[in-house]
Order: sequence, then structure tokens, then C-alpha cells
Amino acid sequence: MNVLELIEHAIKGREKSYSPYSRFKVGASILLKNGTYVSGCNIENISYGLSNCAERTTLFKVISDGYTKDDIVAMAVVADTKDPVSPCGACRQVMAEFLNPDTPIFLANLAKKYKQTNVKELLPYGFEEIENAN
Ligand code: THU
Repeated sequence: MNVLELIEHAIKGREKSYSPYSRFKVGASILLKNGTYVSGCNIENISYGLSNCAERTTLFKVISDGYTKDDIVAMAVVADTKDPVSPCGACRQVMAEFLNPDTPIFLANLAKKYKQTNVKELLPYGFEEIENAN
């Protein structure tokens, strides 16, 4: 897989960002095993708490198209930051649901400076047990 191409797709996804409140545009892209790129952006709302991050938009697109975590090769996230953008806690929990623990995640900025990570690193000791719920 080509990391720079994946980041390019995330940058393209970012161009669609709907972020009139924060004015902070974020893009993400996921490469599927069938070679398809699925990209997304953050989508804000006037009721700020309803805003959706680029990571979740993109993962939800992939899942709603019928793919599973085993169809995903890698994910990239990009924003106009000095250092590679870091996903929020909510997105880390969603990534833990829909990415395998070792699936490469590339955090990047517009200069394509990137840092490779994965769910194991982003969400150590994450919530994953409801079997004893009553
Ligand atoms: N945001 C993302 O889309 N992804 C991140 O990793 C960080 C934050 C969005 C949420 C909101 O629309 C804007 O960036 C400012 O927080």
C-alpha cells in the first residue's frame, strides 16, 4: 500500500469538510483490500455537540457500505496542523470497534508529515467487555 496516496485521499476528503463553527477542516481515508479508497470529513452542527469527526464519518461510510474491519488495509487522518493530527477520544473508541488492533493508522498534516500508529497504541486498555452486564 502507498501511504502518500492514502494521505492524498484524506486531503481530498478534507476539502468537503463542513466546519463553519470551528473552521478546522479534517479529512480521513480508508483503503480497502479491494483497492477502493473511502474518504470522509468532519461535519459540524449548529448544536455543536452533534458534530461528527472525519474519522467517524469515514468509518461509518465503510461500515454502512457493508465492509468489516477485515476488509480494511489502513486508515489516514489529516488536518492543517504543525504535527500530525491526533484523533479525539470518541473516535479512538470507534476505531477500536471497526479496525483491527494492528491495522496501520497514519496521522498526517497537509505537508504529509505523518506518524504511523494503530488502535493498540491509541487506546490502550480500552472498553471492550459487556458480557457481565445485567
Ligand atoms: N475533529 C476531527 O474531525 N477529527 C479529529 O481528529 C479532531 C477533531 C473535528 C471535530 C470538529 O469538527 C473540529 O475538528 C474541531 O474540533
